[in-house]
Order: sequence, then C-alpha cells, then structure tokens
Amino acid sequence: MQKEDRIFDELQDLMLQEARKKYSETVIEHFLNPRNIGSMEDADCYTFMTGICGDTIGIFVAVNGETIKRASFITNGCGPTIACGSALTCMVAGMTIEDAGRITNADLIEYLNGLPTENTHCADLAVNTLRGALAKLPETE
Ligand code: FES
Repeated sequence: MQKEDRIFDELQDLMLQEARKKYSETVIEHFLNPRNIGSMEDADCYTFMTGICGDTIGIFVAVNGETIKRASFITNGCGPTIACGSALTCMVAGMTIEDAGRITNADLIEYLNGLPTENTHCADLAVNTLRGALAKLPETE
C-alpha cells in the first residue's frame, strides 16, 4: 500500500471514530452508502426545499396508483441530510401515498436510530420536502 493510501485510510478511520461518537451506525451507513440518490426522469412528482441552514434537498417520487413505487433524492446538504434522504426514500418505497404523507420527522429519526439535536432540522427538511412532493401529485378519484 502506498504511503498516501495509508494516510488516507488512517484519516478515514479517525473521521469514522469521531462520527461514531455523535451518530448512530444507521446514520453513518446511510451517509457512506446512500440509497436512491439522484434525480428521477420519470418521477410523477418532485419538489425542492431549502432548510433553515441554507441546505437544499430535492425528492422525486414515482407512483403506481395509490402506492409509491420508488423515491429518490439529491441534496447539497450535510452528511445527516444525505442519511435522511436515503433513509426516507427507503422507508416510503411500497407505502401508500397517504401513509407516506403521514411520516413524521420523529419516525425518520427513529428509523435512523437517533439524530443529534442539532441535526433534527435535517429530518424536518427531508420530511417536509417529501410532503411537498406528494402534494404535487394529481388528485385521483
Ligand atoms: Fe442543513 Fe443538515 S445542516 S440540512
């Protein structure tokens, strides 16, 4: 292993050790391996929202009748926002639109096994953006 690679690995280990003091393994895992990241060309609805911190998240949703087929997200936000977008888009896949619209920030935080208080607004932003996207779906009878 090259010296630069070893230094990089050591730095990465140090950063992970620090992150583990603050974030759950679930948050770290979704941050390091985000699911459903990227925009969606065939989305039935999407929206972007900017949070109180100035970060923006976009959520895209594809539906099949009353059921969410899949959801994806993009963001310029922090690690916890990436984890929130990843977790939330996993949570809603296969749910009814109605149930997905009822997900709260507390539900998302529970799914992530907790978030530090200073990051709960990241969950608010993800949940509000999902609701904003779902509100753009055409009414169905
Ligand atoms: Fe801005 Fe996380 S700090 S959304």
